[in-house]
Amino acid sequence: MAAMDMSRRSFVQGSAAALGAAGLPLPSLLSSYVGPLGRADAVTRILPPSGDERMAWWREARFGMFIHWGLYSILAGEWMGRTDHAEWIRNTAHIPLAEYDRLVGRFDPVKFDADAWVGMAKDAGMKYVTITSKHHDGFCLFDNRLTGFCIRSTPYRHDVMKLMADASRRAGLRQCWYHSIMDWHHPDYLPRRDWEAATRPVDGARYARFVRYLHGSVEQLLKNYGDIGVMWFDGQWEQTWTHEMGRALYQHCRQLQPSVIVNNRCEGWSQTPITDPLGDFRTPEQEVPATGWPGVDWESCITMNDNWGYNSHDTNFKSVARLIGLLVETASKGGNLLLNIGPKSDGTFPDESVERLAAIGRWMKVNGDAIYGTTASLFAAAPFRSTTKGNRIYLFVTDWPEVPPLALPGLKTPVRSAYLLSDPAKTALVLNAGEPGAPQSLILPRNAPDPNCSVVVLEFDSVPAVGA
Ligand code: GLC
Repeated sequence: MAAMDMSRRSFVQGSAAALGAAGLPLPSLLSSYVGPLGRADAVTRILPPSGDERMAWWREARFGMFIHWGLYSILAGEWMGRTDHAEWIRNTAHIPLAEYDRLVGRFDPVKFDADAWVGMAKDAGMKYVTITSKHHDGFCLFDNRLTGFCIRSTPYRHDVMKLMADASRRAGLRQCWYHSIMDWHHPDYLPRRDWEAATRPVDGARYARFVRYLHGSVEQLLKNYGDIGVMWFDGQWEQTWTHEMGRALYQHCRQLQPSVIVNNRCEGWSQTPITDPLGDFRTPEQEVPATGWPGVDWESCITMNDNWGYNSHDTNFKSVARLIGLLVETASKGGNLLLNIGPKSDGTFPDESVERLAAIGRWMKVNGDAIYGTTASLFAAAPFRSTTKGNRIYLFVTDWPEVPPLALPGLKTPVRSAYLLSDPAKTALVLNAGEPGAPQSLILPRNAPDPNCSVVVLEFDSVPAVGA
């Protein structure tokens, strides 16, 4: 990740210079750009339906699958003996455009089965799938009428977005698109990478034309594949992409599909402080924020190993316990988890991912109630994580107490009943009301029912309250 951060920083720093080199100072780009609704800054009202209505399914879902798949998957992270690349490989390995283009002729995922992918997401307990329609390399996995640099030109030919959207609909999952704003292939995208400035001159490049291409691509993604859950933008950090453009893109998505949810990475650069930050949810990457953000929707996106795109050398997969722990942690802090898979170029998921998805699914089958539709933990300090739903609190116990009881610090409402979520008989766990002034506590059975994380349900007669 450090390498990626470095390159991202140098892009950002390099972008202003590259613009200057292109003879296109920022103000001229701005004035030449007119959003799809006329002047973008004229549109500031919130379009119906309201945020709460649009976000309802997403807040209920809590858990989704991220998929990074594209031409880079063919290279599997390897170039000229170096094996630490992934979806950034064209840039991190400095692969000339013409050479990268040749991968198009090799994209033929004969084993790809959209129903199998969506089925694995569903069995894992995930409720939505967010897949790369285009990553930074510019290659589109859908039949993009505005470019030949897309699936249509590959031996495979089939529109991956169509196959995925149909499969998700059949399985009852929401289909979502990841779409990169940054584009290392489109001739009008600026700036160029520093290392290719000499071989890809910017003469004639017009960023405004690229923005129209971006809108035209998004239009296809939101018109041709039925209802889409989320437009998940990325690669918005170069200075060519302005706040004004971000606002127009956000509005365009909402116009095309009023109920679509749009992430915060459509936000662009602004010379003055931004007073209307864009997007419906925040997107912490590779981390769960230390505390949640009360009143703000967010989704942590996290890889299963160390890379987003497939890297055959990356075997640093997180354990099942750790992955379940991440899901529990995000839910207990009030967020969603978008867990990433980097499929291989033959169309299959790495075995390690398949195994982990199945194990998470086994846990979710028993314990999903403690995740779906829940809100953040009410406990400020406790030796367990927890979630809340109506008159219930769910406790996630990973450190099974050797010596009972398990104290419930600060819990003010009397517990009506307590039982293990894995116990269909709901056998009552013994409760200590606690000495006056002491916390209520729970006697758990000697052995934890789940080696990764066991869930205790507390039921109350009313919405429970927890104090300091
Ligand atoms: C970053 C990376 C990208 C990855 C994404 C996932 O923006 O550039 O490769 O797709 O994060 O959040």
